[in-house]
Amino acid sequence: MEVIITKDYDQMSKVAADIIADQIKRRPNCVLGLATGGTPVGTYKELIRRHKEGKLDFSKVVTFNLDEYVGLPVTHDQSYHYFMHDNLFNHVNVAPQNVHVPPGMAPDIEAACAWYEQEIDKAGGIDLQLLGIGGDGHIAFNEPGSSLASRTRLKTLTEETIKDNARFFEKESDVPRFAVTMGVGTILEARKLLLIANGKKKAKVTAEFIEGPITSQITATALQLHPNAVVVLDEEAASELKQRDYYKWVYAQKPKVAEAVKA
Ligand code: GLP
Repeated sequence: MEVIITKDYDQMSKVAADIIADQIKRRPNCVLGLATGGTPVGTYKELIRRHKEGKLDFSKVVTFNLDEYVGLPVTHDQSYHYFMHDNLFNHVNVAPQNVHVPPGMAPDIEAACAWYEQEIDKAGGIDLQLLGIGGDGHIAFNEPGSSLASRTRLKTLTEETIKDNARFFEKESDVPRFAVTMGVGTILEARKLLLIANGKKKAKVTAEFIEGPITSQITATALQLHPNAVVVLDEEAASELKQRDYYKWVYAQKPKVAEAVKA
């Protein structure tokens, strides 16, 4: 796992946007996995900025979102469908038919989950999956106890997640109790993973998922199983990592490594 420690949220967002922009430039028709939450908002702003400057073309990009609340219509301002349009899709030239968000209102959720998996397959799999991390260590909505081989399915949210996400709703009782989420197994099939985290609140869980044992109690630890995972942090989120200085040293050596490989 590559760990990149940046000085603050803005830098974290820029580095994450660099990685995504690089993916789009290398393969303009790439398949991006996208995330919601407060963390990626700065990354999306940066991607929008680059698009508006004419430096980034989303016309052939295909997207799949990680998760969606069950029971919120797409017009609800806290649905992840709405969030993605508000924070990214409405501001770039992505083709509406290339956008996929798990259906949280499907009459047959199980069938809808199977359909979502098929759509990812049909698109050729995900090239780059952006991730955040929940306070309880979840990726997407893979709450503690989720199988590390799980596929897209319905999950019941933990009390901690409901409390964490209540800040986006008028009151805690408005937060949906269920969500449709890509599974950990689905996420691990992406060719590259990019997890971003910032702030002191994420420091403990960040140290646990990077340096602790792999466990379904902290589903982000599954990143340790992926051969091509990058984690971009700000100083605060990185503050409890034991090997913090080593990760910084490795990052600083990167240009030298590239030179050595070329020679
Ligand atoms: C939600 C989403 C996750 C996200 C997490 C963290 O639970 N399902 O995909 O990573 O929130 O959110 P934030 O970035 O706001 O801390």
